[in-house]
Amino acid sequence: LFAAVEMAPRDPILGLNEQFAADPRPNKVNLGVGVYYDDNGKLPLLQCVREAEQRLLAQPSARGYLPIDGMPAYDQAVKALVFGADSEVVRTGRVATVQALGGTGGLKIGADFLKKLLPSAQVLISDPSWENHRALFGNAGFAVHTYAYYDGARRGVDVEGMLASLRAAAPGTIVVLHACCHNPTGYDLTPAQWDAVVAVVRERGLVPFLDMAYQGFGHGIAEDGAVVGKFVDAGLDVFVATSFSKSFSLYGERVGALSVVCASRDEAERVLSQLKVVVRTNYSNPPTHGAAVVATVLNTPELRALWEQELGEMRTRIRAMRQRLVDGLKAAGVEQDMSFITQQLGMFSYSGLSKDQMVRLRQEFGVYGTDSGRMCVAALNSRNVDYVCQAIAAVL
Ligand code: LMR
Repeated sequence: LFAAVEMAPRDPILGLNEQFAADPRPNKVNLGVGVYYDDNGKLPLLQCVREAEQRLLAQPSARGYLPIDGMPAYDQAVKALVFGADSEVVRTGRVATVQALGGTGGLKIGADFLKKLLPSAQVLISDPSWENHRALFGNAGFAVHTYAYYDGARRGVDVEGMLASLRAAAPGTIVVLHACCHNPTGYDLTPAQWDAVVAVVRERGLVPFLDMAYQGFGHGIAEDGAVVGKFVDAGLDVFVATSFSKSFSLYGERVGALSVVCASRDEAERVLSQLKVVVRTNYSNPPTHGAAVVATVLNTPELRALWEQELGEMRTRIRAMRQRLVDGLKAAGVEQDMSFITQQLGMFSYSGLSKDQMVRLRQEFGVYGTDSGRMCVAALNSRNVDYVCQAIAAVL
């Protein structure tokens, strides 16, 4: 039966974890996957999560099946966070939200639903994009193409190119957009540039699908979330995949969501019923723990304030590490201007290093980043940053 099965290639991001784990060098550094580590190199257990778990433990509950679309308190909290509790879309009930297995799960539910709704649509992802976008929409049966995004020469977003790509897209094309902290480049659109994108999406009748995996890691929770409001205000039907993996440091709980903004409550109810079919036929219904933790934090004012503070601390530490990286590279003898690293947002720096240089970093120094030149600066700390700078300087 399996004689002809070919070996699939290693995942370009998570596959690096396997290689890293097998590397015996004590000074190895994992800048591959997008995971935040504290200055001691430890994955943090946020205090707000710890306190929420203590509260949940104080009132232990049995683990029945959740509804197919997830825990109601969680779905409500997601809607309030993503759209605003008092927003018109939430008040009038025209958002369909389902709990999902992380942000990836939210994307996949949306992709499968869209394939039934728009079977011959094409999908556009940014050039470059998170590697899994192409694979995920491709496996859902779509032809996946790219829109212009990164301008390597100018080190920023090629906005004119992006708008031209979107203008050339056929109506009904699904456009996957990174709401903040673009993965892998770290370059985001300005609010005015977002307005221009929203206008083209609207004019051309495109279907916007926002991937919001890093809310709070750019400028702040509200600032990063403002992009969603622009699509809503333009009267667009928009998909939003939310992840709490990074913002709650709850990677292994797979806690995320998909929200779909519809024209009316009636439409939202029908859309929700279809999203539930996708969930039921894939994994039946979602798990309880991560959603219970996130709902407890988001729905308890003092825990919510603590979360915002802790998320702010992560954001600030990443910024400090960006600066340390720039300074350290200079001190290590790198002559080219690397200050662009401090202009990028979120967990990643798109370093501009070639695949060969990234392979050398891995093989010669045990410093792991993706072949695309992406490095997770959220995994740098005061003990490993100088070593990383020396390694980068050597391959440059
Ligand atoms: C990343 O890009 O490293 C993260 O989003 C983790 C993942 O699932 O790829």
